[in-house]
This record gives sequence, C-alpha cells and structure tokens, in this order.
Amino acid sequence: MTYLVTGANRGIGLEFTRELLERGESVVATARNPERAEELQVLQGEHADRLAIFSLDIADVASIEAFVKELGARAIDVLINNAGILERCGELGEMDFEVIERSFRVNTIGTLRLTEALLPALRRATGDAKIVNLSSKMGSIAENSSGGSYAYRASKAALNMVTRSLALDLADEGIIVFVVHPGWVQTRMGGPNALIDTETSVTSLLDVIDNANASTSGSFKEWNGNTIAW
Ligand SMILES: NC(=O)c1ccc[n+]([C@@H]2O[C@H](COP(=O)([O-])OP(=O)(O)OC[C@H]3O[C@@H](n4cnc5c(N)ncnc54)[C@H](OP(=O)(O)O)[C@@H]3O)[C@@H](O)[C@H]2O)c1
Repeated sequence: MTYLVTGANRGIGLEFTRELLERGESVVATARNPERAEELQVLQGEHADRLAIFSLDIADVASIEAFVKELGARAIDVLINNAGILERCGELGEMDFEVIERSFRVNTIGTLRLTEALLPALRRATGDAKIVNLSSKMGSIAENSSGGSYAYRASKAALNMVTRSLALDLADEGIIVFVVHPGWVQTRMGGPNALIDTETSVTSLLDVIDNANASTSGSFKEWNGNTIAW
C-alpha cells in the first residue's frame, strides 16, 4: 500500500515513515525542506524503490498545488496528516493573534486544503482509503480542565470538527476518516520530558490505523486505541 506522510522529516512523521518502510510499504514522504531532511535522505538510500520525497508546505496554497501536480496519477491508500505546529500565543490580555492565525493556517486549514486536493488520489486507492489526522487531546473540549493554549487547542478542536464532517461526507465512498492523539511524545514539540518515545507511539498508532474500519470513521482515537471524548 502507499502511505502519504506530511511533516516526515522529524518527530512522529519521521517515525511513521521509518516503520512503514520497514514493513514493506511504499511511502510518499513530504517535508518543507527535503534538502535539509538528512534522516529522510538516509532512509531513501536504503529504500530508494519505495520512498519518494516531495517538498510541501501545507500552509502555502502554491506549494500544495505544485505537490499534487508532481504526484500525478499516483494512488494514495492512507493519508497521514501529521504536520502541525504548537506555538505559544500568550496569556489572556496579551494574546498574540498572529500565532493564533498561523496555528489555524497550518493545523486546520492546511490539513483540510491538502486533504481536499488529494481526494482524487485517495479515490484511486484499491481498497477503502483512510485519512488519519494527527490531532491532540488538547483539542478535546471535554478534556479541557486547565484552560490556556488558545492557539493550539482551538486549531486542533477545529481540525476535529473538520474530520467529523469529512467522515460523514466521504462515508458513501468508503473513505475512512478519523483523528488520533499520539500521546505525549518525545519530539521537538513534545519535549524531552514527554511520557513516550516516537516508536511506542507510532507502533501502536499503526495498529489503530490498520484496524480502522467504517465504524472508526468520525472518531477520536488515542495512540493505545482508546476513544477520546470530543
Ligand atoms: N509530540 C507530542 O507530544 C504530540 C502530542 C499531541 C499531538 N501531536 C501532534 O502530532 C503531530 C506531529 O508532532 P511532532 O511531535 O512530531 O512535532 P514536531 O517534532 O514539532 O514535528 C512537526 C512536523 O510538522 C512539520 N510542519 C510544521 N509546519 C508545517 C507546514 N506548514 N507544512 C508542512 N509541514 C509542517 C515540521 O516541519 P519542519 O521541520 O519544516 O518545521 C515537522 O516535520 C502534530 O500534528 C502534533 O500537533 C504531538
């Protein structure tokens, strides 16, 4: 099968790419700066026939258009919308609204725009295509008991809503769409004190993705398979 992973140059996206290649899948890996993605380039040396690396900034319309054009008539079986940002927007009273706008442009709008642009590729999948959006428990309204983090929380909550609508709108075509929370993971975003490493998160997430079916569509799953309240 062919998997497309955004933000594949580091963190969780890089681990998805590594594990998928290890198990024999084909991967379309995207990064904002492929020329600086050294670990991806090493993987390409090892799996040249199954790894294709493309340049893609999901917040840039022209970049999405160029990428989809370059992808051509290729089929995508599983789209892993991993790229995302967590930036501090400050406390109430000193809020940085540029950070909030940027967070929506990447986490919500960029993910939706790319997904829309890739629908033809997903429709070319041999079986039921899957769209997996990397959200966060911080985007759960039900789980918000500490406030703050307006930019990240709101942009991921909006991504959750986008996912739910996509799941309903694409159900008739058999395309499965859901969000996952990868856990608190040791990456540049998660920091060194995070609870789990990328391998623990991604190995388990791949089980969740493999087992996803029509009843998973429109749901919010944790890395260990538990369902999270919206
Ligand atoms: N780590 C955690 O604890 C945690 C928890 C919950 C949810 N998540 C979610 O999991 C996903 C991956 O997180 P991570 O921990 O691996 O983060 P990370 O280490 O900060 O990596 C983020 C990736 O997203 C890419 N990216 C950022 N903006 C982009 C854009 N405009 N276009 C394309 N790519 C872009 C980055 O590329 P550059 O290298 O070019 O910046 C990088 O490859 C994110 O969606 C995050 O919100 C993570």
